[in-house]
Amino acid sequence: TWTMAGFREMEIARIREQVGTGRVICGLSGGVDSSVAAVLIHEAIGDQLTCIFVDHGMLRAGEAQEVVETFRGRFNIQLVHRDASDLFLKELAGVTDPEIKRKTIGRLFVEVFEEEATKLGGAQFLAQGTLYPDVIESVSFTGGPSVTIKSHHNVGGLPERMNMKLVEPLRELFKDEVRDLGRELDIPEAIVGRHPFPGPGLAIRIPSSDITREKLDLLRRVDSIFLEEIRAAGLYDAIWQAFAVLLPVRTVGVMGDGRTYDQACALRAVTSTDGMTAEIYPFDFNFLNRVAGRIVNEVRGINRVTYDITSKPPGTIEWE
Ligand code: XMP
Repeated sequence: TWTMAGFREMEIARIREQVGTGRVICGLSGGVDSSVAAVLIHEAIGDQLTCIFVDHGMLRAGEAQEVVETFRGRFNIQLVHRDASDLFLKELAGVTDPEIKRKTIGRLFVEVFEEEATKLGGAQFLAQGTLYPDVIESVSFTGGPSVTIKSHHNVGGLPERMNMKLVEPLRELFKDEVRDLGRELDIPEAIVGRHPFPGPGLAIRIPSSDITREKLDLLRRVDSIFLEEIRAAGLYDAIWQAFAVLLPVRTVGVMGDGRTYDQACALRAVTSTDGMTAEIYPFDFNFLNRVAGRIVNEVRGINRVTYDITSKPPGTIEWE
């Protein structure tokens, strides 16, 4: 019978056989997939693996620190942490179009990753946390043939250019199975149970607007409150993804005796099994009321909160 413990052993043997004495580099994002792939490969080949974490500055509050502490501290994995936020923000200045944002971030990501990989002296193998749905998505995504809904974030032509072979130990698994494997590998629940997070990060949650440090900071604060309340209410695991979106709209409000003229935000939470379709999460009204109250009171610069009630389709999960 098939068990996760058996899968783990089989994959470890398979990785050892594929890699031999070669060197492997792995891009780490802090998400579930790359984390599980990295820990599994590390278990198979130890210090033949080096992870590269390109921090584009579009992560949620505290995430970069957590990645570094977990992988260096807890798992003893060799990790290059490159803070490239200045570069990404510079190149994104004035960019408002979603596809240009995605392509700019994707291009820079590959450039920085390649630079760090070259500094390490290269490697024969590139590890990726590709899942089964990623394997099939390229042929069956929502838009049908020849329509690109969104350009997804990946390492592009890097493997060919650097002459690296791919190591993809998760390519037969679905998300829930990857989470089980992560638990089998003793990866902390905070990582294993984490909601999916898009490669371009918070940049695509600041729609039709350019990205600045100030906007990112504002969004992080709203996002933290929303997620804190979701966790406190015990709802985190019942939701596929929950996040805040900073809207490019200023609205009039009243606070105390004064008029405010600040930005609006949207909250989004959905259930899903694979991200291909999604239903909105039916929060209790009191919950939404409490979250909205906290956001407006605690985040200066935001004076209006809306809840996105669009399913996928016709909406997508992310706003860009
Ligand atoms: P959409 O917005 O297309 O998102 O309904 C479906 C799922 O994919 C995630 N997403 C991404 N993940 N790179 C990723 O790794 C990306 O460029 C990207 N864009 C969207 C999204 O968060 C949702 O889980």
